[in-house]
Amino acid sequence: MCGIVGYLGKGRTRQFVVSRLKKLEYRGYDSSGIAFNKDDKIDNVKAVGNIANLENLITDENEVQCAIAHTRWATHGKPSVKNCHPHSSQSGVWSIVHNGIIENYQEIKEKLKTPTDSDTDTSTVAELLEERNAKTIGDFVEVFKEVQGSYAIVAMNSNALDELFIAKNRSPLYVAENKGEYLVASDPICFVGFAKYYYSFNNYEYAHIKNGKIKFFDAYMNELKKELVELDDCFEETQKFEYEHFMLKEIMEQPEALKRQVKTYRDTNVLAKFNKEFIEKFDYISFIGCGTAYHASMVGARYIERLTGIRASAEIASEFIYKEPVFANEKTLFVFVSQSGETADTLMAMNIAKEHGATCVALTNVLYSSLAKQADYVLPVCAGPEIAVASTKAYVCQLSALYMFARHLNNQIEDKQYNYLKDIELVSSKILDFDQEKINHIADAIKDEMNPIFIGKDLDYIAACEASLKLKEVAYVNATNYPSGELKHGFLALIEDGTPIIVFATEDKVRTKTLNAAHEAVSRGAFQITITNDGGLGYDNLIVIDVDNEYLMPMLEIAPMQYLAYEVSIKKGINPDQPRNLAKSVTVE
Ligand code: AGP
Repeated sequence: MCGIVGYLGKGRTRQFVVSRLKKLEYRGYDSSGIAFNKDDKIDNVKAVGNIANLENLITDENEVQCAIAHTRWATHGKPSVKNCHPHSSQSGVWSIVHNGIIENYQEIKEKLKTPTDSDTDTSTVAELLEERNAKTIGDFVEVFKEVQGSYAIVAMNSNALDELFIAKNRSPLYVAENKGEYLVASDPICFVGFAKYYYSFNNYEYAHIKNGKIKFFDAYMNELKKELVELDDCFEETQKFEYEHFMLKEIMEQPEALKRQVKTYRDTNVLAKFNKEFIEKFDYISFIGCGTAYHASMVGARYIERLTGIRASAEIASEFIYKEPVFANEKTLFVFVSQSGETADTLMAMNIAKEHGATCVALTNVLYSSLAKQADYVLPVCAGPEIAVASTKAYVCQLSALYMFARHLNNQIEDKQYNYLKDIELVSSKILDFDQEKINHIADAIKDEMNPIFIGKDLDYIAACEASLKLKEVAYVNATNYPSGELKHGFLALIEDGTPIIVFATEDKVRTKTLNAAHEAVSRGAFQITITNDGGLGYDNLIVIDVDNEYLMPMLEIAPMQYLAYEVSIKKGINPDQPRNLAKSVTVE
């Protein structure tokens, strides 16, 4: 949610700073702005809409030595120039960019002598810095004793335009240096081509950049020593190349991503630590995530129960954090699933599990994320950077990691050597084997239908959930997902002539049941599309998956549905990479 870039150095154009900000557009794109030094003061440019609108307002190529920039996903105050970051204090002495939520902003507002100039929570911090007469890094850190909430903040001061001030709590922030020039960013993606190494901030850490040097501090102004982290090569993947959209590129990258997943698990033997002795400590496995990661969690729980016999469940993180966590104890293994590893609800759920003495595993695509840092164990997801808001390759790689994890535990428990790596190699070779033209026709047939329904049973039902989420997200279609057995308990009343019913029927033991439920809907006018591994079904609109392993179906049956959602989005003139009202990484509760 929101992207931040800060620059301090001998001089770069504003276009350079904004080009770095563009790499963060996936984090929010409803408005953007940049503040920079000009004639010994702070000047700024802001625009509503995506970053291209800001770029259009920056015409000259004059260099600036100090700049902060921001791309916004609105939390407090609607998208407008007034609410766009950077926010300044009344006299303009402080200007700041912020990711996160200042939870006590109302309280701060009441303390302030001067009203703030926007509806945002952020303005209150800019004003507080001015009213507390902050000048030095020590003063800056002191002001944060009055600030509660999540924040990654980069600030500039008009009386010290050769300095940058940084604060971080519960919102990611990084900084890199190259020959005395500094870039600060909310994702290391921004450092590609600038630096090979970077520093990462922990919670309640601060930094001050001046005279080509950076100093890190804790909340008591103790100076901290920090280790440099090497920039991952896979960040180079963050270009669209010949693809028009990241979503399509990421769908098409799935075979490669799965190969990388297999290679990592084989070469590093990451699962070895989950041995018999380890697994015997637990009698329950709880998977937790949000959105698509919750769907992966559902699949993970099914894999565990079927393959290991250990009780397992999946919970939505934002629900779990307000539940009575009766099963959170030292006999429960928690697996937190998150592409970004920065989802606020998932992080809060992990904190609760830890407070109850549970062991926590992070299954994440971002190994430098807060979730990975806070977990007892990490299961890497090797999808590579995922830029499109809709998760595609990360979901399939999450499922592959969960499958290998469950099979590995089964090997430990039963003392056998089942080669699950081969299964994922098979998925990699088959995942794009669907007929794109057929999907294209289906996209035409359903694009104007308002209420398609996705049904299935057991693992197929989870595919239905994920497929309908994809269509909602990128094509603004009010798709519903239902367990097939539930249709006759109420939903059938909504079936009309032409209602699309997308039927997942890949599991032998439940296929007939699901198809029967679909027939009941078709008898009442529904228009059926079927995804199955039974090529002999002889239906129209059949998408056949030619693999005989029901555990692999959740990976194989979702790819054509991701492509369907992409096609419907394009046909409706929507940019699937930047669907309205959404952002990639939900770092606020
Ligand atoms: C997926 O297409 C969505 N963009 C969304 O549901 C996402 O999966 C969810 O916000 C969780 O994100 P995470 O995996 O980064 O935690």
